[in-house]
Amino acid sequence: MSIPESKSVEKTLERPDIHRQWKNSYRTEENEKFYEYAFDYIVSCLSPRKDSIFLDAGCGTCNHSIRLARCGFSVIAADFSESALKMAELNLQSFNMQDKIKLKRENLLSLSFADETFDYILCWGVLMHIPDMEKAISELSRVLKKGGVLIISEGNMSSLQSIVLRNLKALLGKEKSVVRRTDAGLEYRETTSAGDLLTRQTNIAWLKRRFQNTGFVVKKHVSGQFTELYTRVSPKLLIGLIHGFNNLWFKYIKIPFFSFGNILILQKKA
Ligand SMILES: C[S@@+](CC[C@H](N)C(=O)[O-])C[C@H]1O[C@@H](n2cnc3c(N)ncnc32)[C@H](O)[C@@H]1O
Repeated sequence: MSIPESKSVEKTLERPDIHRQWKNSYRTEENEKFYEYAFDYIVSCLSPRKDSIFLDAGCGTCNHSIRLARCGFSVIAADFSESALKMAELNLQSFNMQDKIKLKRENLLSLSFADETFDYILCWGVLMHIPDMEKAISELSRVLKKGGVLIISEGNMSSLQSIVLRNLKALLGKEKSVVRRTDAGLEYRETTSAGDLLTRQTNIAWLKRRFQNTGFVVKKHVSGQFTELYTRVSPKLLIGLIHGFNNLWFKYIKIPFFSFGNILILQKKA
C-alpha cells in the first residue's frame, strides 16, 4: 500500500468539510434510534469487568464514545483528524462528558499505546477509509488485551444495496469513482469537495478469515443497518420508511448477508 495514498486520504480527513458532511448525513434523530438499539445489543454481548477500558478507534465526533461512557465504561476516544477532535470536544461539552472521555490524537497505523492496553476496542466505520487496512488491523490487535473484544462495523460489498447500485451504475454508465477490486473488498476512490477519499465496501468473509487466522474468534456476526439509502433520497416519508425497515431488520432479524451494515464482535484468544 502506497504511503502517498495514505497521506492524501489523511489530508482530506484533516479538513472539517467531510466531518460536517458525515455529521449531517449520519447524526440524525432517526439514525440515533438505530444506534441506541445497536449499542444496547453490543453491550449486552460483553461481560465487562470493573474498570474496563474502551478505545473508540476513529471516534469522529464521539457519539459512540458517549454511548459507551453512559454504559459505565472508561473511554479513550482517538482520531487522527484535528478537526474531528475539535467537533468531538464540542460534542462532549454539550453532553457534559468531558470528564468521562479522554480525547487523543492517534493514527491507527501507529498507535502510541503499549501492547495489550485495552479490554475493548470499537472501530465503527473507520477501516473502510484506511488504505493500509492490514497495518491498522495489526495495530488494533496489538493494543487489545488477550481475551479482549474488538467490535467492527463495515459496509458489506455483497449486500443487496451494493449489488443493485453497482449494476445500475454500470448499466447507466454513472460510476464516478475509480473502483478497484482487492481481497479486502471493492475500493472506491472519489474526489470530493474536501479532497481524495477512499471508501471500501468490505469483503466480510475475507475480513472474518483475516481475524480468525491471527488469533481471534468471531463471537457474533450480525447486520447493522440494512441499507444506507436514506442518505441518497429526499422525500421525508421515504427516509422514514427506510429507517423503520432498518430498525425492524436489526431488532428482529439481524441476518448480515444481504445487509449493507455488518457488525463483527471478535474476541482475541487468551
Ligand atoms: C466515517 S467516520 C466514523 C466516525 C465514528 N467512528 C462514528 O461512527 O461516528 C471515520 C473516522 O475515522 C477517522 N480515521 C480514518 N483513518 C484514520 C486513521 N488512520 N487513524 C485515526 N483515525 C482515522 C476519520 O478521521 C473519521 O473521524
